Amino acid sequence: MTDTKALVNLEQWESAWQEGRTGWDLGDATPALLSVLQTHEAALFSPSKSEWSVLVPGCGRGYDLAAFAAKKGVSAVGLEISPTGVAEAEKELHQVRNLPRETVQVLLADFFEFSPSAPFDIIYDHTFLCALVPTLRSAWANRMSALVNKGGHLVCLMFPLRDADEKGPPYALSVEVYDELLSPNFKQIFIRDVQESEKLKLGGGEQKMSIWERIMATDAQFNETISTAAPTQLVVADFTATWCGPCKAIKPLYAELAAKYKHVTFVTVDIDQLKETAAKNSIQSVPTFHFYKGGELVANMKGADPRQLQTLVEQHQGPKDESAAGPSVGPHGDLAQFIDTRQIECLNQSDDHTVGSIFGKDAKQYLESDVDEQIILVIPFNQVVKLHSLQISGPKDKAPKSIKTYINRATTLAFEEGDSIEPIEVIDLATVYTAEGDLVSATVPLRFVKYQSVNSITLFVGQNLGGQETTVINKLALFGSPVEVTKNLAELKKDDHQH
Ligand SMILES: C[S@@+](CC[C@H](N)C(=O)[O-])C[C@H]1O[C@@H](n2cnc3c(N)ncnc32)[C@H](O)[C@@H]1O
Repeated sequence: MTDTKALVNLEQWESAWQEGRTGWDLGDATPALLSVLQTHEAALFSPSKSEWSVLVPGCGRGYDLAAFAAKKGVSAVGLEISPTGVAEAEKELHQVRNLPRETVQVLLADFFEFSPSAPFDIIYDHTFLCALVPTLRSAWANRMSALVNKGGHLVCLMFPLRDADEKGPPYALSVEVYDELLSPNFKQIFIRDVQESEKLKLGGGEQKMSIWERIMATDAQFNETISTAAPTQLVVADFTATWCGPCKAIKPLYAELAAKYKHVTFVTVDIDQLKETAAKNSIQSVPTFHFYKGGELVANMKGADPRQLQTLVEQHQGPKDESAAGPSVGPHGDLAQFIDTRQIECLNQSDDHTVGSIFGKDAKQYLESDVDEQIILVIPFNQVVKLHSLQISGPKDKAPKSIKTYINRATTLAFEEGDSIEPIEVIDLATVYTAEGDLVSATVPLRFVKYQSVNSITLFVGQNLGGQETTVINKLALFGSPVEVTKNLAELKKDDHQH
């Protein structure tokens, strides 16, 4: 392993800052960055999210951070190894530009030692790779892979592109070197020459602006993406290879569809990287497109036929309207693992058919009410979650007709309170069930804005579909995401302030 500490050369950077040798400083954001932030806004800021995290390592005075933070919903973090550099950035961002620390901050940290609680949506490298001695390059690429979210992007201003020599910093780079460093875990989605008017005036060498998308790095990541998507959420996987011409030809359309169908998750699988996934999915040729819902393959397509791809996405896209569910926060998974099963309470359950085993994919036993058709079910979580949707199934005469929901109650709801205490919402299931044999099932979106911080949910069932004496639930699943995942950037900031 590379001894990064020995190679980073803190003293050199600190004295450059102290002595004002900051010839790289443009006095403002990189012009070519400002341009791609406009031309590639949809690609960079996944429309399935409303908040994005950005990292700029070796950020200097942080002008580029300010450019990112101009977009609503962005939290931008800069890293500087030089204390004087951090102080200068503080001055520039918070005194001169008056930017709030909630959206922009610069941390005193070595990029190679930095370990945030979650990866970033976008990383921007501007004269950072070229500032590092070449022996640090593979460590740089490894850190970038670890620090960019899957599906996220690394934006690189490629500089200085010139024949290799010993001089530096800035050390010579080439398009081939970037390819070699990044291609195992990133796919280049854009590259262009930097125009003369946008160029850094830092001496010789061509410059290019490039965007790299973090591809599925492991088979486990692919499995997780497919299996944790909510049942109504379409996931499209493009099985591709770098050597495949038709794959390249259909890429722009794939990117266009990803921008247009914001409620669909689009992933790319390089079959040479994810061999296990390719084998498991019996991929014989590329490109092949697979369409999944709730972990199941619902359609597939071989070849690069643009019209067929478009039609299939349109056909299987699923419900667009997350507005009923509030702001979109990306894919939602089955929260079975976050349910504190030992603390579940169920009032009026029969002795033989208790609530214990109705959760999760392998639900085999059903829950049945006891003396009448009513059920109160309190489901606590072992960490705070956001709830997005609910899936329920039962016999067509005994499944719940409607459900009232309550959250975070200090005391267990009593049956008589079901009529007097205002629920969070009343979900009418009768109209949304679909029948399959003797069973009916439904997946219903919850009013997402109302379930942003849930410790426990109480479900009150008053009646069943057929007016039977007892109510039966065969399977119950709750979809959403733990709050930890979505607030990690805020935490990172908090942690840093405490240090
Ligand atoms: C060439 S300057 C670029 C600054 C900035 N990107 C700009 O364009 O204004 C490189 C910066 O990276 C910082 N740096 C060097 N090694 C670093 C490391 N390992 N971690 C964090 N910052 C580092 C240096 O202190 C320096 O300010």
